[in-house]
Amino acid sequence: MTFILDNFIRGMGMKIIFTDSYDQMSRRAANIISAQIILHPQTVLGLATGTTPIGTYQQLINWYEKGDLDFSQVITFNLDEYYGLSGEHPQSYRYFMDTYLFNQININKKNIHIPNGMTSDIDAECAGYDQAIEDAGGIDLQLLGIGRNGHIGFNEPGSSYEKLTHLVTLTENTIQANARLFAKKEEVPTKALTMGMKSIMHAKRILLIANGPAKIQILNQALYGSITPEVPASILQLHPDLTVIASQK
Ligand code: F6R
Repeated sequence: MTFILDNFIRGMGMKIIFTDSYDQMSRRAANIISAQIILHPQTVLGLATGTTPIGTYQQLINWYEKGDLDFSQVITFNLDEYYGLSGEHPQSYRYFMDTYLFNQININKKNIHIPNGMTSDIDAECAGYDQAIEDAGGIDLQLLGIGRNGHIGFNEPGSSYEKLTHLVTLTENTIQANARLFAKKEEVPTKALTMGMKSIMHAKRILLIANGPAKIQILNQALYGSITPEVPASILQLHPDLTVIASQK
């Protein structure tokens, strides 16, 4: 009985949409984000970097350019930033966001929040980030990608579900995966500041996007397997409003 009830409760707030292409996945995700902005122009968005959301951001830019979207009152909080990289570093997440989204829309730069990877006071930076999220009224819609090991943000397997923004040491797996973006593997930072699992679970709505066959196995494990810190994304099964958009090809 407990088992049946548990399975019933888990995933009750979950919607899963499969698409046949990256473009369709991106368009669906952008649809959800744009509806949120149109209905609530002062919305607070949680944003992710990585290769997966680039198409979603491009679609949002296209709709902005057509005059269908207005970002002037939108507030954003990014999930994470490498520790030790400044926003001018081409591999920093700040640089990524400026390039793939912020420089191409009418967002007020004052409304953009990304952890400061160059901080000299990590505790103050993390506490200030959490406070800023709270002061903004919390995150209305959090966009997430998923790592092949089930990480979300930089919350690696084994991360506590209790953490807000904090400093993490990246796993070898993640350093390897990210090395493709740096000239040498040795240049990949080994630490990062990330919103914690608790920060993510506090978001009112979550939109997880996953692209291609390489993500299907971990997605299955995260959405239908046991809820365990070894698969950080598995906690999302307990979120009351989770939408997953996965491209199968
Ligand atoms: C980055 C982030 C990461 C990525 C994940 C998937 O801000 O939150 O958790 O979402 O590493 O990355 P891609 O999209 O490159 O497969």
